[in-house]
Amino acid sequence: MNRLHVRLWYFTSLFVNGRTLSAPVRCDSSLHRTVFQLFRTMATTNTNNNNNLPKKAKQKEPLRRVKTKENRSKRGDVHGPSTVYLQVAGAGSRDNAASVYVFSEFNRYLFNCGEGTQRLMQEHKLKAARLDNIFLTRLSWENVGGLSGMILTLKDTGVPECVLSGPPQLENYLNAIKSFSGPLEDIKLSVRPYTEETYSDDTMTVYQVPIFAKSRDNDRKLPHRSGRNSPTQATPQKDDVSSAGDPGERRTAVRDSSLVVAFACKLHPKKGNFLVAQAKELGLPVGTAAIGPIIAALKDGKSIVHEGKEIRPEQVCTPTDPGPVFIIVECPSEEFLGALCTNQQLGRYQTGGTDDPAALVVHMTPESVLKTDQYKKWMERFPSTTEHLILNEHACAIHNIRSHKIQAQLNMIHPEIFPQLKAYKTKEPQAALHVPNVRAECLLKFQLRPVMEWQRDAIPSCNSEEFVKEASEVPNFLAEVDKCRKICSAGATELSGQGEKYPEVVFLGTGSALPMKIRNVSGTLVNISPSQSLLLDCGEGTFGQLCRHYGDDVDDALSKIATVFISHLHADHHTGLVKLLYQRERALATLGKPFSPIFLVAPVQIMTWLNQYHDCCEEILSHINLIPNKFLCDNAEVPKQRTKSFIQAMLKKNNLQRFHTCLVRHCKNAFACSFTHQSGWKLAFSGDTMPCDAFVHIGKNATLLIHEATLEDELEEEAVEKRHSTTSQAIGIGMKMNADFIMLNHFSQRYAKIPLFSEDFNDRVGISFDHMRIRFDDSKIIPKLIPALKTLFAEELGEMEERRERREMRYPKGSSSEVTSEQKTGAPDVGRGAKRDQEETAAHVETKRLKTS
Ligand SMILES: *[C@@H]1O[C@H](CO)[C@@H](O)[C@H](O)[C@H]1NC(C)=O
Ligand SMILES: *[C@@H]1O[C@H](CO)[C@@H](O)[C@H](O)[C@H]1NC(C)=O
Ligand SMILES: *[C@@H]1O[C@H](CO)[C@@H](O)[C@H](O)[C@H]1NC(C)=O
Ligand SMILES: [Zn+2]
Repeated sequence: MNRLHVRLWYFTSLFVNGRTLSAPVRCDSSLHRTVFQLFRTMATTNTNNNNNLPKKAKQKEPLRRVKTKENRSKRGDVHGPSTVYLQVAGAGSRDNAASVYVFSEFNRYLFNCGEGTQRLMQEHKLKAARLDNIFLTRLSWENVGGLSGMILTLKDTGVPECVLSGPPQLENYLNAIKSFSGPLEDIKLSVRPYTEETYSDDTMTVYQVPIFAKSRDNDRKLPHRSGRNSPTQATPQKDDVSSAGDPGERRTAVRDSSLVVAFACKLHPKKGNFLVAQAKELGLPVGTAAIGPIIAALKDGKSIVHEGKEIRPEQVCTPTDPGPVFIIVECPSEEFLGALCTNQQLGRYQTGGTDDPAALVVHMTPESVLKTDQYKKWMERFPSTTEHLILNEHACAIHNIRSHKIQAQLNMIHPEIFPQLKAYKTKEPQAALHVPNVRAECLLKFQLRPVMEWQRDAIPSCNSEEFVKEASEVPNFLAEVDKCRKICSAGATELSGQGEKYPEVVFLGTGSALPMKIRNVSGTLVNISPSQSLLLDCGEGTFGQLCRHYGDDVDDALSKIATVFISHLHADHHTGLVKLLYQRERALATLGKPFSPIFLVAPVQIMTWLNQYHDCCEEILSHINLIPNKFLCDNAEVPKQRTKSFIQAMLKKNNLQRFHTCLVRHCKNAFACSFTHQSGWKLAFSGDTMPCDAFVHIGKNATLLIHEATLEDELEEEAVEKRHSTTSQAIGIGMKMNADFIMLNHFSQRYAKIPLFSEDFNDRVGISFDHMRIRFDDSKIIPKLIPALKTLFAEELGEMEERRERREMRYPKGSSSEVTSEQKTGAPDVGRGAKRDQEETAAHVETKRLKTS
């Protein structure tokens, strides 16, 4: 039987892997391992093109590169790069923080790395493989929120070393991320603070220019700020949360939000080209050995005498390019205006300065600062030849075409369950600037060499009509859509008047491990009532997803979130929290609502990370009232008064009777939860877990179960190894639980569009998609959408099934050697879906080898 063969195959491959893994995997290392796993998937995608190369060659590449570099600098004569351009990654919209990628044939750089940057780069094939310099203008989550992901990607791609330049506090930030990423031994990380003023490599020299705000202790202005003055002394513990005392009592000594760093970058000069035709005409001995020294002298700008004739360089060479300068500057608020506008180092590149004027100034500056007279005047002090590029919330560029496409197509199936994506548009008027300027768009380029020019050809365009047309051409799709419509409208009359609007569940991220084009990482919003929402997990990019789901109403949506549940501390479940909290604070202020902290129901260990971030980077603790998950378990120890009162307040705020958690079988300190509303409905959420009886118990009779289904049924052994569930296991748990309806989510990224369906599917089971929005009543409709979904994704499903069959045919019972060779070389398998699976498998082997060597 097919299934048996597959299992045998998999068992064998695990065995082979098992042998290469010399150290047993300890339980407490699983966190690190998964973060690692998480980013290796991406690294493999980055190196897509090399996929058929032997892995060894890939690993050696960085070393060779290091040597080449040494050689180049030893030769001493700097040949500046011949191709250099800047490219916008994130245009600075509210959901895509500003970041700029710089390319030369020798080096790649990134300026700022907010949440989602790594994902954006991956989608648009901005290769991370040679990124060994990241410049950060400021230590704020906007700029550094995506760094942890980026660093792990670099590590996995084999980049031996990465240097972060900018604020000295970056050192502390690196330490803070280690609290959840584990040690980062495989990549040499260092911080080059602004005090080390210049940096030079094969491409350019970078000058770090510190700019200090006027008031030097302008910490974030938050309601909870306290004036207590024992900054380095932690107060005695009187709480359940060791070291998470009152925010005001914590030390703030190393934090410094009064600094931004600007970067002035000067490309190395490039000697002119030797013009062969002209040289021949002048009788130079082109094509003979004698020409070498002649060319060298001419390119150096010296005249030569050939057969009694003087030949000047400009006769046979194009002129030397002295090397243009570009400046990257962030001016986050008016407090920095004075210092920026009088800065002499930057003034050198303005009209009348000591250096050539800047060719380009990149402004990561909000409209409120741009529109001030002082900033405008500063811009005008650059000559008219200087180009200005502006990245801020006025950018309304679309960054992700793939998710717009799938959403437009799903929307055809059911417009309410799959609503169209929206965009947040700032209400602030655009500043009237007196210098020509260009507003950022995703992938817009400014080329510095060979020719200085704007290049717009890479900017993605998004055409919904096209997407709809494409789907319409899928055989049978329109017919299936029609059937869906009929069923739904029949259902609607049957239900009319009875449909409850709340609760409503919005799936924000339904993929596992790594955000991909189609599915982002974990985040599920439960709108309990018109005024209360609860968020279940908060992976990187959760805020961005909210923004694209709610558009201009995002502030309203944020302001209702009073409770966040974090199931466990894998990066794909919690690294979006900080951004969510800051954006929520902003939303409350915008709407004129009073600030109050959220109830954070989470493993208590999350405080290690949050405390460090708070101490060294930005104030965050005043946003949180922590309720450790363990106090909501059956037979939990009795919490201290403070926690008790938080629990009571949390239940009251959400109109809940009960909030229940239990430990699950995944990693250390991983929890599932269930909660029961006063009106009687009950929701159970699994987090990540293998089938777990404790969860069946706390979820008993749930109205809705949201269960992870990371893997297809045939990969049960892999599910065990990674401590996840298969589709049928998840459904099985739902049946045991006697849940009214089961939504499967958290799919492995190898099922990017749609997971394989198992025979256990019935009319109580649905599968989630990002941005899917459901109410309990929809449970009758959701299973009926499946035929249409299967038709839309028929090609992908076909490929996945074909792959499964091929695997069985090629590797009958236990032929381990073949299995190994397939895994090592990533044997070419046709089809897009298949490729992704191969990548994952191959990368898996490589990761293990890297770890053991
Ligand atoms: C570096 O230079 C040495 C001799 O100077 C040469 O043997 C070697 O091949 C060069 N390496 C690379 C990677 O170019
Ligand atoms: C996932 O997040 C990225 C930004 O990080 C976004 O561009 C993309 O549209 C999201 N994908 C989906 C399916 O919503
Ligand atoms: C679940 O429902 C069954 C039958 O409807 C009932 O007998 C049982 O007591 C319920 N269990 C819980 C924990 O609510
Ligand atoms: Zn996990």
